[in-house]
Amino acid sequence: MRRYSRIAGTGGYLPPRRVSNDELAAELARRGVETSDTWIVERTGIHARHFAAPDVASSDLALHAARQALDAAGTAPDEIDLIIVATSTPDMVFPSTAAILQHKLGITNGCAAFDVQAVCSGFIYALAVADAMVQAGSARSALVVGSEVFSRILDFSDRTTCVLFGDGAGAVVLKASETPGILASDLHADGQHVGLLCVPGHVSGGAILGDPLLKMDGQAVFKLAVGVLEKTAHATLAKAGVTEAEVDWLVPHQANIRIMLSTARRLHLPPEKVVVTVAEHGNTSAASVPLALDVAVRAGQIKPGQNVLLEGVGGGFTWGSLLVKM
Ligand code: ACO
Repeated sequence: MRRYSRIAGTGGYLPPRRVSNDELAAELARRGVETSDTWIVERTGIHARHFAAPDVASSDLALHAARQALDAAGTAPDEIDLIIVATSTPDMVFPSTAAILQHKLGITNGCAAFDVQAVCSGFIYALAVADAMVQAGSARSALVVGSEVFSRILDFSDRTTCVLFGDGAGAVVLKASETPGILASDLHADGQHVGLLCVPGHVSGGAILGDPLLKMDGQAVFKLAVGVLEKTAHATLAKAGVTEAEVDWLVPHQANIRIMLSTARRLHLPPEKVVVTVAEHGNTSAASVPLALDVAVRAGQIKPGQNVLLEGVGGGFTWGSLLVKM
């Protein structure tokens, strides 16, 4: 009998400090950087984001989200036999944030734990890898997390990027099942676009070499994102043998409301079928898809048996999608 993986529970966590556009604009004005709530809302759909306290790391946010997902799945931490954390803002250069999370969860069963680095597509990549490992029989209960403290890598003198991002974590517990589950996935990267969206600095000989803050050519990313998101959605639907009309919910990467609605239009999905959390979360990179999924599940919007299309796009350039029967 074919083995599938199923999402058994979801979780999400935002650090308590909510920063409205007005508050951020006032803070930036003190640095001589001009922006406004009107500009940010009109161009992105973002009204606020959450920033973690300076002593809070990605693994701390991940811990809250993971505990919620484990509770929702009715799974004890020691039943987990695989942990994958998608993050571009890990606690340390090494070891992985997944290994740190394993310890914080008190898991002592020696399960595999590693990070996935695919920037804003990270959670899509991580979930596809976990699904493949469950299908192959190398895991039965996987914890898959997206967690970010992007506030640490923002250049607050660059108004074209610093207003866009926030901190947070989302998680799912993925379990082996005789019925689907994850129906299909599709992952891509195109390394020729590395410079479009990157944090170019690195650690060398005890110093940071190069710029350790986020750089983005927003317009170029925008144009590429819309095209690849449509393509990957169609590829995943074709693999699953599911039509656009059979998609109940689109849970896209929460970067910009205009990208999300444009993707939905190209897939002939009405805006009511799009889960939107960017207004209150901003772009939380690898955390954005699992956070949005968790919000919609907890609100009772996404129901068991429904077809949910998850999509991500980000630095690399990377992109991908997954179709999930909840
Ligand atoms: N406040 C006020 N004005 C601003 C701001 C700001 N925060 N930022 C830019 N502007 C100005 C610009 O300087 C420009 O002024 P000018 O016309 O005088 O030169 C004007 O607004 C228009 O700027 P554009 O860059 O053309 O604005 P655009 O409509 O393209 O929106 C944005 C910019 C929001 C960044 C958009 O391009 C976007 O969302 N891009 C995609 C980002 C994305 O999807 N990332 C996903 C991956 S993220 C990851 O992987 C980490």
